[in-house]
Amino acid sequence: MARILITSAIPYINGIKHLGNLVGSQLPADLYARYMRARGHEVMFICATDEHGTPAELAAAKAGMPVAEYCAKMWAVQKELADGFGLSFDHFGRSSSEQNRILTQHFARRLGENGLIEVVTEKQIYSVADGRFLPDRYIEGTCPNCGYEKARGDQCENCTKQLEPTDLIEPRSAISGSTELEVRETRHLYLRQSRLRDRLETWIDSKTDWPVLTTSIARKWLHDGDGLQDRGITRDLDWGVPAQFEGAPWEGMEGKVFYVWFDAPIEYIAATWEWADAQGLSDNDWKRWWRSDKGAEDVRYVQFMGKDNVPFHTLSFPATIMGSGEPWKLVDYIKSFNYLNYDGGQFSTSQGRGVFMDQALSILPADYWRWWLLSHAPENSDSEFTWENFQVSVNKDLADVLGNFVSRVTKFCRSKFGEAVPAGGAWGEQEKALIRDLGQRIRTYEQHMDAMEIRKASGALRAIWGAGNEYLQSAAPWAAFKTDPERAAAIIRLSLNLIRLYAVVSAPFIPDASAKMLEAMHSDDDSWPEDPGSALTTLPAGHGFTVPEMLFRKITDEERAEWQQRFAGRRD
Ligand code: 2FM
Ligand code: ZN
Repeated sequence: MARILITSAIPYINGIKHLGNLVGSQLPADLYARYMRARGHEVMFICATDEHGTPAELAAAKAGMPVAEYCAKMWAVQKELADGFGLSFDHFGRSSSEQNRILTQHFARRLGENGLIEVVTEKQIYSVADGRFLPDRYIEGTCPNCGYEKARGDQCENCTKQLEPTDLIEPRSAISGSTELEVRETRHLYLRQSRLRDRLETWIDSKTDWPVLTTSIARKWLHDGDGLQDRGITRDLDWGVPAQFEGAPWEGMEGKVFYVWFDAPIEYIAATWEWADAQGLSDNDWKRWWRSDKGAEDVRYVQFMGKDNVPFHTLSFPATIMGSGEPWKLVDYIKSFNYLNYDGGQFSTSQGRGVFMDQALSILPADYWRWWLLSHAPENSDSEFTWENFQVSVNKDLADVLGNFVSRVTKFCRSKFGEAVPAGGAWGEQEKALIRDLGQRIRTYEQHMDAMEIRKASGALRAIWGAGNEYLQSAAPWAAFKTDPERAAAIIRLSLNLIRLYAVVSAPFIPDASAKMLEAMHSDDDSWPEDPGSALTTLPAGHGFTVPEMLFRKITDEERAEWQQRFAGRRD
């Protein structure tokens, strides 16, 4: 049994996430966590909300709430939606936790002691009316490139040009609208990550099995002129982890907090500590996942994230870990994703474009979405959600293939033999061939799941479902029943067992339907079919079952058209 630590990129607290966010980290991480647990491994699956920084402050201000209150409320909303989608986190933490404050300050102190942090004096925009320095996003003005009047200090939303606040024409405070802005000197902490370039490069070079998407982004940033520049890791904000604290090897950082991207990945560790605290466990219980001096040397650590997060996870966070000089766990494998587009454009939180997690669950159960999203995961290129494609996948794969198999087998058995696994008849050539075929298909499925090749794994699972359907079609128990009821009983006995096997192997993708299938088979045996021949004898003759409610319904053309229209516009 192996020990596997799995983290999903932690979603920003501001607002409900869309399906593109979901498929870019949390959902594939859940698939992998469920699969690894099903294979008998010890799994720690961690996620959290990313609560610091300007996005949280601005969203709270917009909602007219104190930022701490806003974060607490939105954490509960995100947690409920995560539960709704069946995301099986061992802990869903919060980056604003006390544990994260302690660890973030600890890492900063260690980096400072190791000469990797310096105090830099720089010029920044100060708003006299607001009595504070304004971070990038708090400054608005006219874009020098395209003339858009609401460009932000970090980027113009209209033409996407990256900007410095001082580039803006007629800059004003986004808080008060005041134009009484001055350039003043302020001091910040800089992480001297360029000093770790060689170590980082050697480490990345050693990751020959990583997906090309991950290593190509890491290498680009490593070699780009400004890729591994020393970076400011403090901001003039109230909300965040205070940069001045007892024992800090610097002074004068009062009123400043760490940059959100400095403390966010540390929350992976902190959330595991939160988990231990919530369970009433000891320090060692979380450290055995994270510290090689506490037993983590045999842990395999896998991270899931969208491609925009890769630089922070391949360079910045490893720089924090390496620079600490302490035996914290570095990631072993990074699975990254391209973007999911929406119906001819992009999903966009700021523009409210696409389908959001709450909306998705309001129209169909989680498994429908899980299946489509995972089987179309944007692994090798961007992929696109269209309602037509969603309808076809659901109706074909889930309703026609899997759902129909379960329904035909259970209903036929009930009408001819009653609600118990029928006795009589032995496996013939057809059954032996099916078992051999399933054996190979399940091994293929495992190989893809082990390699986190999600689309290929979904294809292999679909083929496993298809094999059962083809068997049923050609064995034709309804015809056999007329001349040879024992033969029909053998076919149905195998098919009922196949439903249990399907429940087990499908659970990582569609956990709710799998639970219903197991329940219908009156079984709690969810052991993995290492040997399909014996797995298909788990339910003996006489074992009772119930015909389940319809597992998956079809999406009608009218519904598809209605949803397409409903979600064409902008979310309020
Ligand atoms: O892109 C995002 O949604 C970030 N909140 C991800 C942070 S991942 C990690 F570093 F914690
Ligand atoms: Zn512009």
